[in-house]
Amino acid sequence: MFLLLSTVSAILAIWYLKFLWGRRKMYIHSWNTPGPFAFPLVGCSYLFLSDLQGANRRVIELLRLYPGLMRLWLGPYLIYIPTKPEYVQKLLNNVLEKQETIRYNDYPGRTGLIAASVKVWKRHRKMIMPTFSQKILNSFMDKFNEKAQILCKQMDEHVGQKNVDFYDMISKCTLDIICETAMGIGMNTQTIPSDYDSSMNRLIELICLRAMNVRYHIEFIWKLSSAGKSWKKPYEICRNFTSNVIKKKIEEHTCNSKETVVETRRTEPFLDYLVKTESFTEQELCDEVNTVLAAGTETSARTVLSMMMALGVYQDIQEKVYEEVMEVLGPDRQVEPQDISRMKYTDRAVKETLRIFPTAPVTVRTVETDLRLDEKYLIPEGSIIFILLTALHRDPNYWPDPFKFDPDRFLPENIAKRHAGSYLPFMSGPRNCIGGGFAIMSIITIIAHLTRKYRFFTEYKTLEEIEVLPLLSLKLVNGSKLWIERR
Ligand code: HEM
Repeated sequence: MFLLLSTVSAILAIWYLKFLWGRRKMYIHSWNTPGPFAFPLVGCSYLFLSDLQGANRRVIELLRLYPGLMRLWLGPYLIYIPTKPEYVQKLLNNVLEKQETIRYNDYPGRTGLIAASVKVWKRHRKMIMPTFSQKILNSFMDKFNEKAQILCKQMDEHVGQKNVDFYDMISKCTLDIICETAMGIGMNTQTIPSDYDSSMNRLIELICLRAMNVRYHIEFIWKLSSAGKSWKKPYEICRNFTSNVIKKKIEEHTCNSKETVVETRRTEPFLDYLVKTESFTEQELCDEVNTVLAAGTETSARTVLSMMMALGVYQDIQEKVYEEVMEVLGPDRQVEPQDISRMKYTDRAVKETLRIFPTAPVTVRTVETDLRLDEKYLIPEGSIIFILLTALHRDPNYWPDPFKFDPDRFLPENIAKRHAGSYLPFMSGPRNCIGGGFAIMSIITIIAHLTRKYRFFTEYKTLEEIEVLPLLSLKLVNGSKLWIERR
């Protein structure tokens, strides 16, 4: 018995020493980078024992103590959080592999662009990129207008009411926009009840919860937890919605191909191209549709909502946006592609909204080969990079008076004074957002329709009061506190 125990202990000790030896570079380089004290095994986890809001506040406090680049040990994970724009850009250009906690087996979109391993991502990105060309985006303008007008009608029923869930209405509008443009399928969730957007919202929350709790990385603990058990229902709803979209498109494609010879052109919108090309497996097709639906719906909807709140606080800026929209479009005209570049002030206000409220605020990447940032810091292989846009975009060193909503920060002469890496709402580098142009055009169109009809008000007095939670998307902790009045 004693012999057996000694042998097992010796094997475990050898395994552990080998494990430590394999990670020696991480230990050595983490010493050189400032960060809070890390205990053996648990690291800095003792700092994050509260709920998500508490953990977020703690990260912000720590970043003030360790500006530029902070290291954290969380259990076995070595995490770097850069806030110096030069470091952020260098990391985004060179570290492309996503952290594997967003790729578990039953995750929707796990082989889609956002979550896929670099190998799969490279192949897909090259094929999908042209389906979001400017020419294709211009052809979507009618749909942007149509859906924004339906949103205006939906909102009309809630004029003067407080505590209305405007997010729900706006996200149905952005979902319909994505479905009828990139997917080419009318799902009409603004008028026909659908649980897709709330289910996707719930799945995103669960994905974050699982990623942040190391114990949930173990499959059976996750499956037995109450969070893990609540996964199935929203997952099924999202899966059915996506299959429905794909089924409709395949039927349409089959009908059309009987009449004409269909060639696969990359100048076609996203799903038309995907169902015709034979380069995607069924799983990949499903995952890409899920990815684009999720990536394009919530982010844009939260940006519109945040902008309504910002304009609610800054009534003078709201009037300037209104005046510009009336000057460019008049009271009834639809937004046309060339109007987007003419609504310069509105565009700057959207940019300023995305600065204070970056609606996709986080990316988590895995370092596959050592990367030297400068003569001082080397980021070792095996560590994790956590980029937090709320920290970057609200850093008073680059953004004086960071909670002041000032669209003129984005006048060309002011942009020229800043480091390009201090503002990255769509991230940067090869793995940046594929739908940035789509997002800006659709958001300006929605805002133009809404401001022409309504004035926005909010109970918040300053933007600093609006507490947010930077998960995979930016959540409002205490809701929007918005109401609208007719002009
Ligand atoms: C205001 C709206 C939007 C914001 C703020 C936003 C932001 C972002 C950010 C920060 C990323 C990088 C994520 C990461 O590195 O983990 C990203 C990726 C992505 N976004 Fe967006 N996005 C928006 C709208 C859209 C829209 C409308 C679409 C599609 C129509 C879209 C499609 C994608 C896709 C497919 C990716 C993955 C790109 C890749 O890894 O190659 N996004 N987005």
